Amino acid sequence: MNKKIFAQLLAHSQNDLAKITDPYIQETFGVTVKRCETLEEYSNKIDNACLHRYFSKYWDNDMKKWKYSGVALIDEVNGLKPRAVLDVGCGYNEFKGKIDNIIGIDPYNDRADLEVSVMDYKTDQKFDVILCLGSVNFGSRDKIIAEVGRCVNLLADHGTMFFRVNPGIQHDKPEARWIEFFSWNVPFIIQLAEIFNLQVLDIRDDTNSRKYFVYRKKSQ
Ligand SMILES: C[S@@+](CC[C@H](N)C(=O)[O-])C[C@H]1O[C@@H](n2cnc3c(N)ncnc32)[C@H](O)[C@@H]1O
Repeated sequence: MNKKIFAQLLAHSQNDLAKITDPYIQETFGVTVKRCETLEEYSNKIDNACLHRYFSKYWDNDMKKWKYSGVALIDEVNGLKPRAVLDVGCGYNEFKGKIDNIIGIDPYNDRADLEVSVMDYKTDQKFDVILCLGSVNFGSRDKIIAEVGRCVNLLADHGTMFFRVNPGIQHDKPEARWIEFFSWNVPFIIQLAEIFNLQVLDIRDDTNSRKYFVYRKKSQ
């Protein structure tokens, strides 16, 4: 759950749902959502609507700015000769046509091959490489653990996952105000490797204080 949104709703309503009106939601968060039965449900729906609004209309990208986790990945990934690559939260799908056998999924960007979140992506396919570049980054620790777990599930044995993560730095644009950026750090990266039986191949500082790291799936 997005704690910023939940705290705002709670402070405004004091648990009286009648105070969560359409004009209040629009004025405060810049989105509209259907009527909900609980504050938590409102919080989840508003969070999803804020992410959708920001990533479909306001966020823009420059793949060239990343030292390790942008265009440098094209040769790195192709060098692994992957039979299938999944780009989770592919944004504008910029690796399409550059990285072999890649599928881009993204719930909020219509340039994706499939407009779906990582948790809702249904397939029996396993991927030799999974990219999670700035996309497993939003919401609570539990949500992050669930999303990494889902990626591990989609990864073939001995497959490789490349990550770019944010240590909790808010994006500048006002439309990103209600997005909760998870504060990634190195101990958490290592802890996840232990939880999911992954080998940490690399951890580096990338541009803009982002962390770049690489996991390999051990045989199960
Ligand atoms: C900071 S952008 C990075 C985009 C691209 N990977 C890149 O490196 O330029 C984060 C992307 O993650 C997507 N995203 C957000 N939540 C997601 C989720 N639950 N599953 C998959 N993608 C998600 C957003 O729509 C957005 O396109």
